[in-house]
Amino acid sequence: MSRPAVVVDGVSKRYRLYHERNQSLKATVLRRRRARYEEFWALSDVSFEIAPGRTFGLIGENGSGKSTLLKCLARILRPERGTVTVDGRLSALLELGAGFHPELSGRENVYLNGAILGLSRRDLDARFDDIVAFSGLEHFIDTPVKGYSSGMYVRLGFAVAINVEPEVLLVDEVLAVGDAEFQQRCAEKFDELRRAGRTIVIVTHAMDSIRNLCDEVALLEHGTLRALGPAATVINDYEDSVHANRRADGVGWRWGTGEAEIERVEFLDATGRAVTHVRTGDPLVVRVHLAAAEPIEQPVLGLGVHTLDGVQVTGPNLREAGLVPDRFVGRGHIDHRIPRVPLLPGTYDFSALLYDYTITRAVDARIRAFRFDVIHGDPAEEHGVVTLGGTWDLAGLADGR
Ligand SMILES: Nc1ncnc2c1ncn2[C@@H]1O[C@H](COP(=O)(O)OP(=O)(O)OP(=O)(O)O)[C@@H](O)[C@H]1O
Ligand SMILES: [Mg+2]
Repeated sequence: MSRPAVVVDGVSKRYRLYHERNQSLKATVLRRRRARYEEFWALSDVSFEIAPGRTFGLIGENGSGKSTLLKCLARILRPERGTVTVDGRLSALLELGAGFHPELSGRENVYLNGAILGLSRRDLDARFDDIVAFSGLEHFIDTPVKGYSSGMYVRLGFAVAINVEPEVLLVDEVLAVGDAEFQQRCAEKFDELRRAGRTIVIVTHAMDSIRNLCDEVALLEHGTLRALGPAATVINDYEDSVHANRRADGVGWRWGTGEAEIERVEFLDATGRAVTHVRTGDPLVVRVHLAAAEPIEQPVLGLGVHTLDGVQVTGPNLREAGLVPDRFVGRGHIDHRIPRVPLLPGTYDFSALLYDYTITRAVDARIRAFRFDVIHGDPAEEHGVVTLGGTWDLAGLADGR
């Protein structure tokens, strides 16, 4: 087997958090014997290897240590313990505009950055037009970069970083910054580098990008390596754990005449156990608990399901189903049975609405008040909001099997 492009071996990185300057003499005296700083391990004993030509993703929550690890790879930070080995010419795009000089023009900064990355003036002359074209900043290339927007910084920084033909490219979070067209161009460039056998390490919170770009993914949690493996496996597990750990507390709002009340909504699995999440394709019962002090005639109960973006996915009700009860009083519940949940993994807000028969007068409307998660199940689809539940048929191919 060929030599790995990147070896991270037992890396631990400590930061010191310095206390603020004491403001009064008394505080100074009181503090005297305490340490002026606290120590904090941003990375603890992280080890992995990246084979040459791989596109490797680093994921994890805010503060989990991703940028710190990338800076260790770029040798901007030195770990307290462990070693980092990178084989080949390295180029990194780390923080916004890092390495740019604000007073200098875009053009001057391209030359400055290129020189730092080890390119000669002649190399840069030869590549300059490509760099500018990639950045799309032709009109701004001779103005000082201090006037650039954050998106413009990223464009220029990225254009330089990838056009110096690195063997190992480190990229922190750019995918999130550019517009859609720039992101597309980055994705194409990644592909080109990948085909040329270059190694790429990407940090981003954009899970769809990681899923599509990366071969392998490492998940960091509080500075430790939590998972390492094929992109889809690690990302699915990560998303599922995020969804499964979130509290089921819908935001929502409420109105109505108050003649009857939707007390609460329960989500039950196949065994009747209350759950906060379900897998795509599993059965689910949505149980709506009702209470009415006075009899209420022909109440219509409805449900609504929204994505967090506010798109309504569906909204069944008793009247459409032809099942409106004549009257209801006291307490009780109504179940909505879903044999196979068609929702794809994600978080959804459920609404429960109690109306009069004409569905014009709300008795109790609890809108997007019950939050619920769906995690990966069967079918293992990723894109969109629902599965059509369809099956594929290859029989029509000439050579179909
Ligand atoms: N220079 C520093 N001094 C002290 N603490 C720091 C420093 N840089 C980062 N940290 C802390 O180290 C931890 C890891 O930070 P890091 O920036 O690596 O996280 P991250 O995974 O990149 O997060 P994000 O997704 O928000 O970019 C955080 O708790 C952060 O507050
Ligand atoms: Mg970061």
